[in-house]
Amino acid sequence: MKVLVVGNGGREHALCWRLNQSPSVWGLFCTGGNPGINQIARPVPIAPDDIAGLVSFAAAERIDLTVVGPEGPLAHGIADEFSRAGLKIFGPTRAAAQLEASKAFAKAVMREAGVPTADFVAFTDADAARRHVRTLGRPCVVKADGLALGKGVAVCDGPEEAIAAIDAAMVDRRFGAAGASVIIEERLAGEELSFFALCDGADAVALGFAQDHKAVFDGDRGPNTGGMGAYSPVPRYGDAFAARVMDEVVRPTLGAMAARGTPFRGVMFAGLMVAGDRINVLEYNVRFGDPECEALMMRFESDLAETLLAIAEGRARDAAIRLSPRAAVTVVLASGGYPGDYRKGVPIGGLERLEGAEPSPAKVRWAMDKIRIKAFHAATAMRAATLVTDGGRVLAVTAMADGLERAIAAAYEAADLIHFDGMHCRRDIGRRALAGAQ
Ligand code: AMP
Ligand code: GLY
Repeated sequence: MKVLVVGNGGREHALCWRLNQSPSVWGLFCTGGNPGINQIARPVPIAPDDIAGLVSFAAAERIDLTVVGPEGPLAHGIADEFSRAGLKIFGPTRAAAQLEASKAFAKAVMREAGVPTADFVAFTDADAARRHVRTLGRPCVVKADGLALGKGVAVCDGPEEAIAAIDAAMVDRRFGAAGASVIIEERLAGEELSFFALCDGADAVALGFAQDHKAVFDGDRGPNTGGMGAYSPVPRYGDAFAARVMDEVVRPTLGAMAARGTPFRGVMFAGLMVAGDRINVLEYNVRFGDPECEALMMRFESDLAETLLAIAEGRARDAAIRLSPRAAVTVVLASGGYPGDYRKGVPIGGLERLEGAEPSPAKVRWAMDKIRIKAFHAATAMRAATLVTDGGRVLAVTAMADGLERAIAAAYEAADLIHFDGMHCRRDIGRRALAGAQ
């Protein structure tokens, strides 16, 4: 089949990489592309949010399946427009994408579905919100309702902090229209975990767990980023726990969405907080996580195109999901200054030491130890035949090996072969799982 991938970051490179290995795929296209993606997919010069342009392209090229990476086009109705044109697409409709685009909507669905989540109240009035946190008088979380690129959430120790967060969102409009309303919820403690399930509207199959590292610095310090690294699977959370999440979270959510007349189709990415026996849902996303997708795709062994097509056609029962039991670890190499201001266009060196044809001691060892290494391009560009940085998160270096400890070591060994001015990465990706597992 011919497949079009929408988006052009590390997540989409990982999707393209795996789709390119699907026996059923003979044509692969990607909006925008990047120097990594362009080695395996034809770049299509249409922006991900130019939905009409993408529909025309997909119809003219007779694309059999379109796979959407980022949430933006989904929230803007790309799946609705593709379906209307008779084109197959993997991703939820605009109405179903509200699960991610509106936190108040997501909480209402959780309530209807009986999905466990923190107690909350939604506000459109700043005064009422301030009064509420004063009355609460304890730690809480203030969340801008709309899409704020992961920055609209403030975890607060008490009323003062919460009032500052309410003012930032509702009065200063720091997140634009996303902050016109806020939800204020109980602050939960526990271990954060992400779960991914492929949903066909009525039914779902489990993909598995991954864990992200959102803070920029080691030890979860510093401002939040889009994600500095990930690993999958997550020790101690195996198939039995996945079955519980399917029963307690994914299926009830699907039921509630179907009952509303807006069935959910695509990948449900549930952010969980687990404390002992209790599972609470923090949020839903309606897409693959980035960089969680890079780690998951490294482990994915079935024909990805056939699997996603089955989901898109409402045949979850036919969706094959074979994941390697080995551990995958992704380390993000970021530009100096990220998540604040950073330069673009900085030359990147050393990638050929991972991927070039020349043998090297590292490559020989990886081959002998059956370690797989792949540097996914998140934000790179070619300038005068030189590979340069083109964004904050530049490369997502991913390794798969027997056991988390080996995968961590291999990911850092590979990452250390790459360099660019100002480059930084967290040095503790995956470490908390090793500590926790003891
Ligand atoms: P969200 O975008 O809703 O996932 O929130 C971003 C981050 O804020 C999460 O990854 C958690 O670390 C934290 N967070 C969100 N909601 C809560 C909560 N109710 N209790 C504690 N931490 C939370
Ligand atoms: N890495 C977190 C996300 O994609 O939302």
